[in-house]
Amino acid sequence: MFKKFKNNEDKSSQVDTLDLHNIPKHIAIIMDGNGRWAKQRRMPRIKGHYQGMQTIKTITRAANDLNVKYLTLYAFSTENWSRPEEEVNYIMGLPVNFLNTFLPELIEKNVKVETIGFTEQLPEKTICAIEEAKRKTAHNTGLTLIFAINYGGRAEIISGMKALIHDLKSSDEMDIDSLDEATFQKYLMTANYPDPELLIRTSGEQRISNFLIWQLSYSEFIFNPKMWPDFDKNELVACIKIYQSRQRRFGGL
Ligand code: IPE
Ligand code: IPE
Ligand code: MG
Repeated sequence: MFKKFKNNEDKSSQVDTLDLHNIPKHIAIIMDGNGRWAKQRRMPRIKGHYQGMQTIKTITRAANDLNVKYLTLYAFSTENWSRPEEEVNYIMGLPVNFLNTFLPELIEKNVKVETIGFTEQLPEKTICAIEEAKRKTAHNTGLTLIFAINYGGRAEIISGMKALIHDLKSSDEMDIDSLDEATFQKYLMTANYPDPELLIRTSGEQRISNFLIWQLSYSEFIFNPKMWPDFDKNELVACIKIYQSRQRRFGGL
């Protein structure tokens, strides 16, 4: 009993040390380590993915409580199709399970669900669950929860380039010489979001694995050693605390 009280107290005092005026608007997370988490417990990898889904709920609640505006979660990359079919099938079922159990709370908490990635290539049941969540939360104005599903930064840039070239060819107003970064950004899947100030990758791996390669140009990177299923609000707060201690220079002095 006492221990439980003390843990809660620790948690709130951690949050109390944050500078509430310097919370990142947009946090992007590479949710890595589900498989290893399961392996460490002699369980099949899919158990790690199931537990990882529970962590998504915890971190969504925490980000919402902290007044983060955008939370982008890397759930499935364009390269993850190369995994065993059984694992891919299990992952594709997770959005259905996640939204069945969590959509009412997302609606109640004013969270808006969106996606980036080539979602049209996902199985029908996955698309349906995602579309329903988007539809039912479209008017929400709190946290925007963005799932990167079948997302890859290089494929995103190629697809944006194609659309841009198409527009260039068919428009009299656009010309190649006036192209700039702001124009190109409108052709990315993240056109409606500010760039993330903070990128977190769990599991200790230190690479970006084709995630938001354009958008992370000036983000602060934090590599957290916890496997994703073990990541929690305390860890998120600790990451934001580290972010707040960094000096962002954007090439200046
Ligand atoms: C991240 O965990 C989830 C996905 C990529 C879908 P992993 O499945 O990559 O877990 P590890 O890295 O093998 O431990
Ligand atoms: C990145 O993790 C993709 C997601 C978290 C969805 P991976 O586990 O696929 O990345 P690599 O293979 O270790 O680079
Ligand atoms: Mg991994």
